Amino acid sequence: MAYSEKVMDHFANPRNVGEIPDASGVGEVGNSKCGDIMRMYIKVEGNVITDCKFKTFGCGAAIATSSMATELIKGKTIDEALKLTNKAVMEALDGLPPVKVHCSVLAEQAIKAALSDYYTRQGIDPTPIVGVITECDHEHGCGCESCG
Ligand code: FES
Repeated sequence: MAYSEKVMDHFANPRNVGEIPDASGVGEVGNSKCGDIMRMYIKVEGNVITDCKFKTFGCGAAIATSSMATELIKGKTIDEALKLTNKAVMEALDGLPPVKVHCSVLAEQAIKAALSDYYTRQGIDPTPIVGVITECDHEHGCGCESCG
């Protein structure tokens, strides 16, 4: 399966690359098999994610999914961002080859990790809200929450 035009676009021209110096939350996740690392910065005002940036040391699909994920949560409420699944990121990119599904999982996890950090900084235990951030390769029938 070839990459979609949207994947190629977000890989070649990633949106929201960089850091937020006064971020409300920063999350970093990695995949131990491929070694790719994704770091996500969010700025929260009230209940809204007003800004989101990322730095990804990883493959093209990881860059494209990070870019799309930041676009999808920017301007959204925390609740909406928490509901963002890797499937939604993949759909927004018109799909990914099966071997690249795990890259979209990293994007979902990076957002959750940033939100966890946001809650931790407020003195709130993030686990009941954000859940446990686990590494899943989303291989056939893994049964994790994102895979459903
Ligand atoms: Fe691991 Fe893409 S190959 S995130």
